Amino acid sequence: MSTRRILTILSLSLLLAFSLFLAACNGETVAPDAPVDDPAVEQPVDPPPPTDDEDIVLSIFAGNVGMELELSQRAAEAYMEQNPNVTVRIIDTPDFVEDRLGVYLQLFEARSSQGDVFQIDVIWPGDLEEHFVDLYEYGAADIVGDHFPAIVENNTVDGRLIGIPWFTDAGLLYFRTDLLEKYGYDGPPATWDELEEMAQTIQDGERAEGNQDFWGFVWQGNAYEGLTCDALEWIASNDGGTIVSPDGVITINNPNAAEIIDQAAGWVGTISPPGVTGYGEEESRAVWQAGNAAFMRNWPYAYSLGQADDSAIAGLFDVAPLPAGRGSPAATLGGWQLAVSRYSNHPAQAADLAFFMASYEQQKIRAVEGSLNPTIMDLYEDEDVLAANPFFGSLYDVFINAVARPSTATAPQYAATSSLFFNAVHSVLTGNTDATTAFEELELDLVDLLGFPTGQP
Ligand code: GLC
Repeated sequence: MSTRRILTILSLSLLLAFSLFLAACNGETVAPDAPVDDPAVEQPVDPPPPTDDEDIVLSIFAGNVGMELELSQRAAEAYMEQNPNVTVRIIDTPDFVEDRLGVYLQLFEARSSQGDVFQIDVIWPGDLEEHFVDLYEYGAADIVGDHFPAIVENNTVDGRLIGIPWFTDAGLLYFRTDLLEKYGYDGPPATWDELEEMAQTIQDGERAEGNQDFWGFVWQGNAYEGLTCDALEWIASNDGGTIVSPDGVITINNPNAAEIIDQAAGWVGTISPPGVTGYGEEESRAVWQAGNAAFMRNWPYAYSLGQADDSAIAGLFDVAPLPAGRGSPAATLGGWQLAVSRYSNHPAQAADLAFFMASYEQQKIRAVEGSLNPTIMDLYEDEDVLAANPFFGSLYDVFINAVARPSTATAPQYAATSSLFFNAVHSVLTGNTDATTAFEELELDLVDLLGFPTGQP
């Protein structure tokens, strides 16, 4: 009989050490020794339903950016209230997408049953599908119709639903309303050129008034997936394409793409801190939320944190579409899904937990408290959600028109494609090369990796 259930947050190292220990003791943490791509090794889809006296422990591998962990914990508690025989553990995973992917791959390679539910990035279904169950086998057909069709399609590989959509993301421009007014600007910049000019003017003015730590524009410049997102926005907004086109043509080696990356390299050390080439989302937010930047590129999660009582800029900022280059503004599509491992010992219960966490009620809590964008369309008409995040309504078009990274066209080589891309961009930002040269070389590397034809966007 289940009595006390304690929500345990295990540190990742502890968990991994523990799994190695278990493996050493009894070799039981890995699934049967059979090829991963053999459908015959799939776990039984219909294990006997749990009984009252059978306790089940489910582990969710989840993110911890902004309020994510706290919100997941609360959802887990709510689920445990309703399912007294289940204990849910939230396993906190690294912020950077590559690091998180590395942790997951280690478990998958060992076919470890340590993780039941995994928070997976919108770019991962194609690369990782072999490790997850088909959620249609657990009743997803009844709920997918509530979610944005494009995300459901993104999460479907060969007819299998790899993840239930959890929250969606799109890149936004955060701007200081008080400072725009102070320096005589009517509204946020429409182009990158305007942003440069405004950022420089405000930065000069704020420094002259004594704030030496003030910068014009902060963003994600580290060599990681976040830079792929930022750079794709710059390039797509300058009519430079999407690295690889949806029909599998390598388009990155073009003058519009190179032009805007060279322009962005000029921001480093002028309107952006020299250290921006080491920034992820949270480093940018730290500078911004302390009141030390006029503009920030970030995802919606930074909104509720910026408006919180402990924020130096509460009530002093708003969000807008990102500026454009030669073309129209572009926001990269981000977001996370919940997937169930095929190595889980309790796939049916894990799917039930994933569906609960992605339900209307839970997505509403996450939207109101953490400004995490719902994937359930009706929530964009929910009064409480719109009151907490007015921009969910005013920028709705930005969310539904966000530009996808080329993860479907390049699967299962998206992670490798992105890594070549962000390293090429990073080498320009850090002044090691110019963008034309970097993209000529990148094109050759992508041809080697993908074997796709090259062309113009
Ligand atoms: C956000 C996005 C995700 C993206 C990541 C990059 O978490 O939701 O899709 O890959 O940022 O840092």
